[in-house]
Amino acid sequence: MTVRHFLDIDALDTGTLQELIANARALKDRPGETGLADLPPASVLVLMFDKPSTRTRVSFDVAMRQLGGQTIVMNSGETQLGRGETVADTARVLSRYVDGIMVRTDAHSKVTELAEFASVPVINGLTDRSHPCQIMADIMTFEEARGSIAGSRVAWIGDANNVANSWMQAAVRFGFSLRIACPDDLSPDPVLLDWALKEGGRIDVTQSPDEATQDADAVVTDVWVSMGDTDEVKRKELLRPFQVDQRLMSLADKDAIFMHCLPAHRGDEVTADVIDGPQSVVFDEAENRLHAQKAILAWCFNLM
Ligand code: CP
Ligand code: NVA
Repeated sequence: MTVRHFLDIDALDTGTLQELIANARALKDRPGETGLADLPPASVLVLMFDKPSTRTRVSFDVAMRQLGGQTIVMNSGETQLGRGETVADTARVLSRYVDGIMVRTDAHSKVTELAEFASVPVINGLTDRSHPCQIMADIMTFEEARGSIAGSRVAWIGDANNVANSWMQAAVRFGFSLRIACPDDLSPDPVLLDWALKEGGRIDVTQSPDEATQDADAVVTDVWVSMGDTDEVKRKELLRPFQVDQRLMSLADKDAIFMHCLPAHRGDEVTADVIDGPQSVVFDEAENRLHAQKAILAWCFNLM
């Protein structure tokens, strides 16, 4: 049987992605119900971290426990991978012990190489290129608040980073329009943008946050300095005009939601009154990481 890896939104078709969201909702609605997605006893997921994490680490751990499995956390610097063992050998060895591998790392090629050599499912828990688990939770959250995301208008404000890349892929697969407002120097990956447009994605890129936010159903932002970015001073200077504040939110649809994958920096990418205000759904997004990832695990393990 083909191993089901969860590497990126664009790797799955629309039907599968929608089924994952529906399964996540069912798992959320019926917590603790056995039979929905039970793992064989003693199933183990390895959680590999080359970068820090709060939500990804805890939500995957809790997700495995709730499905009846267990986890082992491997932090970089404490493994032979950190001392030069190859990714391919690591994938082959781990596949002899465990049932799945979740990895958070820098270079996206490490995740694809792990998947190439592992005989168990590999899940992308964030790379420099993308963050697909986050976007599954975000689509679920949007739909809880605003109904089907198909045909909706989403505004991304700020750095067109790894999270924005996954939003672009989602715009194609889920059929919503995405307006990205970013400084010229922090524009979307041209290869990915080109792919999205060729696939019929409705994606606009502008340098005007006002233009992107006009009538939007959701306004989304992320940190100005992602893990691994070294040019903090320059980024903060470039991104200062891209702060999401109440004035900007007032240009969006009156029922618009504010989204952020967290961690957030109040006073930088978003003002406190917006992120802590009534339009914010950021803690629903965080909670939905758990439910969305249970559905992803259940799909990877052929349980749902
Ligand atoms: N949003 C997110 O992935 O959070 P962590 O970095 O805490 O895992
Ligand atoms: N863009 C951020 C997301 C953190 C969850 C980063 O990569 O640091």
